[in-house]
Amino acid sequence: QADPLPVHPAFFAGSDAVVLAAPAKLNLFLEILRKRPDGYHDLESLMVAVSLFDTLEMRAAPNGEIALTCDPATLSTGPDNLVHKAATALRTRANRPDLGAVIHLTKRIPTQAGLGGGSSDAAAALVGLNQIWKLALTREELVAIAASIGSDVAFFLSLPAAWCTGRGEITTPEPVDRGTGAGPYFVLVFPPVGISTVGVYRGLTVPQEPVSGERVRAAFRTRDAAALGAAMFNRLEEPAFAIEPIVGRIRERLGRLNPAGAMMSGSGSTVFAPCRDAREAHSVAAAFTDSRPADEPESRVLVVHGFTP
Ligand code: C5P
Repeated sequence: QADPLPVHPAFFAGSDAVVLAAPAKLNLFLEILRKRPDGYHDLESLMVAVSLFDTLEMRAAPNGEIALTCDPATLSTGPDNLVHKAATALRTRANRPDLGAVIHLTKRIPTQAGLGGGSSDAAAALVGLNQIWKLALTREELVAIAASIGSDVAFFLSLPAAWCTGRGEITTPEPVDRGTGAGPYFVLVFPPVGISTVGVYRGLTVPQEPVSGERVRAAFRTRDAAALGAAMFNRLEEPAFAIEPIVGRIRERLGRLNPAGAMMSGSGSTVFAPCRDAREAHSVAAAFTDSRPADEPESRVLVVHGFTP
């Protein structure tokens, strides 16, 4: 049975400030069970955090204002930003509209990429502001607020790995063998296009007979890249590739270069390849970059590992 896991690594915690790392996630498995009357889909997903992080620096402010800045400055910092939504939802839940915060977000996780970056930022904001505002809300209370912000946010309160059900917000921590170190390595490929989640769900055909996730859960426990590669599955690949065929082509090409294959994460557009170790991952990453056909646009490539706080 898994322990309740510590939530976020704090780099610095002062009396009124905190800096938290907000990791990206990969879906190693994602199957759709049914469409629900509320428009969402019940799903099953194995999500794992990886070593690619945004950071949030949070400080209490006396004026009741939530001031968010972001680096790079291309992202919206207004009320539509999930960090802003999290801060507002948290102080509303605590019945403390007087609370203010100055938050600086350093963005490294690509957006519209299937990596949960915005959701992870929101979860880190809930954890950090709960601390600096001294609200002492429980993890369960934070999870309830998380689910109201987005389907993926609760996962980032169940780090580093969880089996996610419902619309994604019901999480069961997945056992992680801390003895084996960093866990599997992954090559991440960021195609030069983002994909909107709503569009992918719109194009989805709900399967008659869903694929079971038991095999991938067992493979994840062994930390064996080949077993993981053979068992991973993502129902959202087909509708995502229909929207952005280039992502499907990249997945094919990366899969041919990696012994354990390749898959898209979440609703895309990131494609990843599980590798045995760092050496293999760097060699696959180099081969992917070097063998790009002239008609394929350039993608950014990054090597990460499974992340244990
Ligand atoms: O919950 P979140 O805001 O991240 O979801 C974005 C969109 O993705 C939803 O509006 C819905 O169209 C789709 N979605 C879904 N089923 C899920 C999660 C998301 O249909 N389980």
